[in-house]
Amino acid sequence: MPEVDKEGKTYYEDIPQRGKLFFLKGSTELDWGMKNRLSRIFNPSDGHTVMLAIDHGYFQGPTSGLERIDVNIVPLLPDADVLMCTRGILRTIISPDITIPVVIRASGGPSILKELSDEQIAMDIEDCIRLGVCATAIQVFIGGQFESRSVINMTRLVDAGLRYGIPTMAVTAVGKDMVRDAKYFRLATRMCAELGAQYVKTYYVDEGFETVTAACPVPIVIAGGKKQPELDALKMAYNAIDQGASGVDMGRNIFQSDSPEGMMKAIKAIVHGKEKPEKAYDLYQTIKNKKN
Ligand code: R5P
Repeated sequence: MPEVDKEGKTYYEDIPQRGKLFFLKGSTELDWGMKNRLSRIFNPSDGHTVMLAIDHGYFQGPTSGLERIDVNIVPLLPDADVLMCTRGILRTIISPDITIPVVIRASGGPSILKELSDEQIAMDIEDCIRLGVCATAIQVFIGGQFESRSVINMTRLVDAGLRYGIPTMAVTAVGKDMVRDAKYFRLATRMCAELGAQYVKTYYVDEGFETVTAACPVPIVIAGGKKQPELDALKMAYNAIDQGASGVDMGRNIFQSDSPEGMMKAIKAIVHGKEKPEKAYDLYQTIKNKKN
């Protein structure tokens, strides 16, 4: 016979059950598993994230800086909040004992030699579950040749993710001939959010970026885009966060830098430490000089 439980004054009938609003924009009504995964991507203490994007090979092959991910990228992982990569790189190069979450590239098809908007969903949701990823990523080509299909692909991935609690990050891809301005990104990011993406990756624009983040009901992270001088990339990250972005999903401006480690730490200081770009640049230089 189990021991009879002793009744005590432990029910606190006068204290309403505690609970708090979820910290992430537009995510309050999501289910527990989805929120838990988002809490691993975005730091609950400030709502921000530094994602290291190394998925470029899925359409570009071994682009500069990603020729040897085991040599050049793996040492950066301790400073990243999240790793964004393909399942091929995850299974072949990345050790399963990493503790940071993974966002998996789940679309693909065309190479840089063909029409890029001709993408498909390139991964089953079951494999995302098998790999224990915290979110999927899929390109959406608003205004592109295969616009509708890429949007519908995204909605299919969102539906699959909703079944299993896996968030979808929609990536607003910009074609070569498209105007990159706030008006375009307001349209693209809002469409992704309205059609179900739990968060959106887009590009920073110098004018009106705050209108892009304001009009998008879910968190926005920025891609870094083409390699720029380090101080310019740090200023871009600073301005994006200052104007409402929830983080960065940055690749080339980190792994193509002459000090990827310095850039990782400098970006982190901005995104999580509100460091000014010039101070973060000093940090980058200090780390770079120490290594030389
Ligand atoms: C681009 O298609 C890839 O998905 C990258 O993840 C994305 O563009 C971010 O990388 P970067 O900062 O180099 O633009």
